[in-house]
Amino acid sequence: LSQEESVENRLLSVCDLLKKEIEHYDWVGFYFKNGDKEELKLGPYVGEPTDHTIIPFGKGICGQVAVSNENFVVPDVAAQDNYIACSITVKSEIVIPLFKDGENIGQIDIDSNTPYPFSEEDERFLEYVNEQVAQIL
Ligand code: SME
Repeated sequence: LSQEESVENRLLSVCDLLKKEIEHYDWVGFYFKNGDKEELKLGPYVGEPTDHTIIPFGKGICGQVAVSNENFVVPDVAAQDNYIACSITVKSEIVIPLFKDGENIGQIDIDSNTPYPFSEEDERFLEYVNEQVAQIL
């Protein structure tokens, strides 16, 4: 990650790279805790625009991760009750919390148009990506 770019641009580059390089990543974005509010706010992303720019804690897969501090792998979104659909083409989702100084400050969210695409390799890789991202925040 080069030094000159703003944090926003660098996060966007991360999203762009992940979507381009990994075939089953169709929407890649970051959500961050919105100040002191109990909600997430959409940050840089690539893929279809979404209406869900604000997500209350506890709502959807993202909102649940904001509360649980744990990875959430959804092989089939149709099997989830507490799920916020962004696009009808999405079949699966993975959300990995992003920790800064031990605090859950946001997450990386990836949607896939393929069912059952995510493995533990994705989890470990995205945990690593978030660790790198935390260092530029
Ligand atoms: N599906 C997410 C909402 C965010 S979109 O995937 C971009 C959820 O259930 O929290």
